[in-house]
Amino acid sequence: MAKMKTHYVCQSCGTHSAKWLGRCPGCGEWSTLVEEAAEDTGAARGGAARAIPSAVISLDAPVDEASPLRRLATGISELDRTLGGGLVADSFVLLGGDPGVGKSTLLLQMARGLKEKNPGLKILYVSGEESTDQIRGRAHRLGVQGGNSVFLAAETRLEKALAAVEELKPAVLIMDSLQTFSSDNLESAPGSVSQVREVAMKLMSIAKTQGIAVWLVGHVTKDGNIAGPKAVEHMVDTVLYFESEVGQSYRLLRTVKNRFGSTRELGVFEMQGEGLVEVSNPSSLFLSERREAVPGVAVGSSLEGSRPLLVELQALVATSGLAVPRRTSVGMDSVRISLLAAIIERHLRLPLAQQDLFFNVAGGLRLSEPACDLAAAAAIWSSATERALPSDCVFIGEVGLTGELRRVAQLEVRIAEAAKLGFKKIILPQGAAFSKKDSQMEFVTISKIHELREIFK
Ligand code: TYD
Ligand code: MG
Repeated sequence: MAKMKTHYVCQSCGTHSAKWLGRCPGCGEWSTLVEEAAEDTGAARGGAARAIPSAVISLDAPVDEASPLRRLATGISELDRTLGGGLVADSFVLLGGDPGVGKSTLLLQMARGLKEKNPGLKILYVSGEESTDQIRGRAHRLGVQGGNSVFLAAETRLEKALAAVEELKPAVLIMDSLQTFSSDNLESAPGSVSQVREVAMKLMSIAKTQGIAVWLVGHVTKDGNIAGPKAVEHMVDTVLYFESEVGQSYRLLRTVKNRFGSTRELGVFEMQGEGLVEVSNPSSLFLSERREAVPGVAVGSSLEGSRPLLVELQALVATSGLAVPRRTSVGMDSVRISLLAAIIERHLRLPLAQQDLFFNVAGGLRLSEPACDLAAAAAIWSSATERALPSDCVFIGEVGLTGELRRVAQLEVRIAEAAKLGFKKIILPQGAAFSKKDSQMEFVTISKIHELREIFK
């Protein structure tokens, strides 16, 4: 028998090394290299080669117009949207999130929706975490039974799970979760990088060769990566993260990667007694329930994928006792906030250099759109001057270094969202194209940020 060769694999990023190293050359982490059987890579590489279908086509071959991406409606519109318009029939999707956030619940509810929307569709749910009795109990509570189309298996051995797939031939396979499955080909423990990679390789292969939509659940490690980390993300077609804020019942489903749609989509759910409920009007979630106008608050508009969200931005400017005043931001890039503070200092002639600045996006949302600049700047200015801005006003626009306002994309949908939620006034950049028809809204256009002073005297 050939002598078993070993090598070292970083448990954080998957980098290989022939000898042990204290520090991973790939990711720079310390003490992450672990010895593993060298056969592992052979198997993994073999898997990679097999996973790519061998059929080769000419680029000039006629395109089969009748077979565009086949998508399945999941019966959950928040999920359909985050997937880019339904579940692609032979796609491989990774659903990441903290333990307990509701991944299993979401996928069980998806199973219900899928079978209701697509009668006769077979769905196999393989759990490596719970017994069939446990899953069945939960599935019954969520109303998944009926139609004889959802099947359960409690299994941690990958080969046995795949044998069940072979026999049942489901259209959708749910594997819950990545870290609990292990292949008999490898000796390393479930959850190690080589196991995780082997499991994902095999699943990718069956998604692509058998046309099965495969969902893989992945728990997130404390540093925020889906464990088994980068090694899996590049293999899958779509990466979704399911997130929650501490103490909040709502859940955000974010698209991080998607070969079949936009990556800026956001699905919003609420965890209730009877499972996850879609939130049809998420703006109301992110606008805190305030009645009267208070200094330091402004409402902005952020486009999350195709959907506009109104968000409340909060700033607190206070005299600093420190040599270097603090600039703290939650929910928006702190460099951007410092930049806006500098612009306000210059163009609204406010001395902020000796002031601490704390900034927060209400509701735990993270904003990356420059369209929120004006609202952020207005909140900071409002706090610094202790001047409350009217609570029925929305601020939309990007702010440049010279204090000029810039136009933003999709103004019409943002205005429509503001109108829907009863806002009466919109401050927006001059020259922005929009129609005023059917609107009770008052529009105030400005070209420079210092004009805020004249508007809110
Ligand atoms: P779960 O889907 O098991 O999370 P994950 O698979 O991401 O680990 O959800 C677990 C939590 O959801 C659990 O704390 C209980 C809660 N929950 C409800 O509040 N209502 C429900 O109807 C269900 C099924 C779960
Ligand atoms: Mg679970």
